Amino acid sequence: MKKPHFYVTTPIYYVNDAPHIGHAYTTILADVMARFHRQCETPVFFLTGTDEHGQKVQRAAERAGVQPMRHADTTVGRFRELWTKLGISNDDFIRTTEERHKRVVREVLQKLFEKGEIYKADYDGWYCVPCERFYTDRDVSDAKCVECGRSLDRITESNYFFRMSAYQDWLVAYINAHPEFIQPEFRRNETLGFLRKPLNDLCISRPKSRLAWGIELPFDSDFVTYVWFDALLNYVSAIGFTKDEERFRACWPASCQLIGKDILTTHTVYWPTMLKAMNIEPPQTVFAHGWWLTGGDKMSKSAGNVVNPLEIANRYGADAFRYFLMAEMTPGQDCVFSEEAFVRRYNADLANDLGNLLSRVMKLIASRCDSRIPEPAGDIGPEEDRLRGAVLASSSKVRESMNGFNINTGLAAVCSIMRETNRYVEQRQPWTLAKQEDRQPLNTTLYHAAETLRVVSGLLSPVMPEKMKELRATLGLPAHMPLMSELESWGGLRPGTATGKAGTLFPRIKSPEACEIVSGHAKTEAAMQIEYTDFKKVQLKTAQILKAEKIEGADKLLRLDVEVGNEKRQLVAGIALHYEPEELVGKTIVIAANLKPAKIRGVESNGMLLAASSGENLRLLTVDGNMPSGSLVT
Ligand code: MSP
Repeated sequence: MKKPHFYVTTPIYYVNDAPHIGHAYTTILADVMARFHRQCETPVFFLTGTDEHGQKVQRAAERAGVQPMRHADTTVGRFRELWTKLGISNDDFIRTTEERHKRVVREVLQKLFEKGEIYKADYDGWYCVPCERFYTDRDVSDAKCVECGRSLDRITESNYFFRMSAYQDWLVAYINAHPEFIQPEFRRNETLGFLRKPLNDLCISRPKSRLAWGIELPFDSDFVTYVWFDALLNYVSAIGFTKDEERFRACWPASCQLIGKDILTTHTVYWPTMLKAMNIEPPQTVFAHGWWLTGGDKMSKSAGNVVNPLEIANRYGADAFRYFLMAEMTPGQDCVFSEEAFVRRYNADLANDLGNLLSRVMKLIASRCDSRIPEPAGDIGPEEDRLRGAVLASSSKVRESMNGFNINTGLAAVCSIMRETNRYVEQRQPWTLAKQEDRQPLNTTLYHAAETLRVVSGLLSPVMPEKMKELRATLGLPAHMPLMSELESWGGLRPGTATGKAGTLFPRIKSPEACEIVSGHAKTEAAMQIEYTDFKKVQLKTAQILKAEKIEGADKLLRLDVEVGNEKRQLVAGIALHYEPEELVGKTIVIAANLKPAKIRGVESNGMLLAASSGENLRLLTVDGNMPSGSLVT
């Protein structure tokens, strides 16, 4: 039986920290694909979730001074909040701490153990906590992770291993016989390159003495499951593996598993070999996208250049943000994120091309056609004929590009249709036609422009669901997303339909540069000016002072323990001449939260508090009213 569902997954995200733009990108990409396939009348199952076990999460919880489960519960809320904000239409959200998942992990381990696929041996090698990956001496040259470049931990311990090496030849043959399995093609070659070296067996456990936060091995209670072995199984545990056969069969093999390029090996080597050992087919496609960079660099917390997706969506709207991410990145390649690029694309594609077309057409329909879709003439001219052909060609292009993971190409085709229709309107000059006695040329022109907008709104729906709903309401169309088949034929708008009020869908954004005051006064301070993007790098947050004490031998310094959200930090501040320690406890202050840690008089300081000073006087910046600690100061 052919599986009927389009099953799309995102990686499950670690709950050690708040979501960033990379997480938002994969999830939006999956959402766009899910919405597109629903538009094509295919049943869809869209899964995302969180990866909650392992050393990375355990350490983050320790730093925050809370239990790992409590830490996971808090962070998972931030992911859910972001997905709601971004209009993510996932059908399920799996957490690896849920019983439905843990049950499957234990069952799989037990079966593989009984089959002799898992054995115990000594492990002596390297471990990268940020990537949660094991490496052998052969993989590593300078005790640095080959993936992220950070320092590795040396590990010597007894562990359990999965006989992954036994599947090396099968995997190479499988990849060669299934070109659609790993995409883009250069990533397939990367995996094949990796498989040219002998494949090691996979260490799948961690002794509890080192790491307690994980799923206990069913056959040895001194160990927990290696976090990747645990995490990868989410893709089958969420769809009822070993419990709900019908549901599992309807979804598996997954149609498309979206990942970032850094987790290619885990998904194209560990995962298919695990599945093979379990007698399950590999997913149809694993698609690895590139990275979002800032200023040409990798985003990282320590560099303080991580883009916060919630902030961008709040400032410019979720749909505009979704559009930018989809239109700007060529899936597979890296792409630089900058607010300038965002504003440029938003203004060009959305405010100008789409916004102008919409406002021109709707104003004329309101004033000249009594707010009703006009009736076009039966005989159409060559311009109309050309426009119709181009519109329908753009629908096919979108279908093709969605199926081929080239969403940006499809969006470019839609933009070019909007520009072509703007040119058509300029050429036909409906405002001049409106002065003629014969209404037909005007009606035909307006109908063609409005019908193009109908198709455009449908094609852009998977990317901008809410804004396109508004656009359709303006055209007098029902709010629900139209089927793809309705966008592949001309004439969906019915003449006589009452149109809605046309607001400004995408108001023009003044670029950050344009917002700067260029007055005489500002110019004299030009040397002090910094780029808006530089200012945005400083992360200001509220913090509550829990404890304050003098530092011996340093008259001006106080050591403060502060709470920043669910994290505890130590700061050193030069305020001892202005405040007594006791009067500080309980105050909510503002700190620069993403400064690199520094040692002041031998005491580590993680951040800097803000204060106003004038001459001898110094007062702390506090918050007007109640705000939880860890709130962003914007
Ligand atoms: N928990 C694992 C995945 C387990 S899936 C069974 C994990 N989590 S993660 O939170 O660290 O990363 C999730 C995804 O975000 C990865 O696909 C990673 O490639 C992606 N990104 C992390 N930083 C990124 C960018 N700067 N840009 C784009 N995606 C990036 O790995």
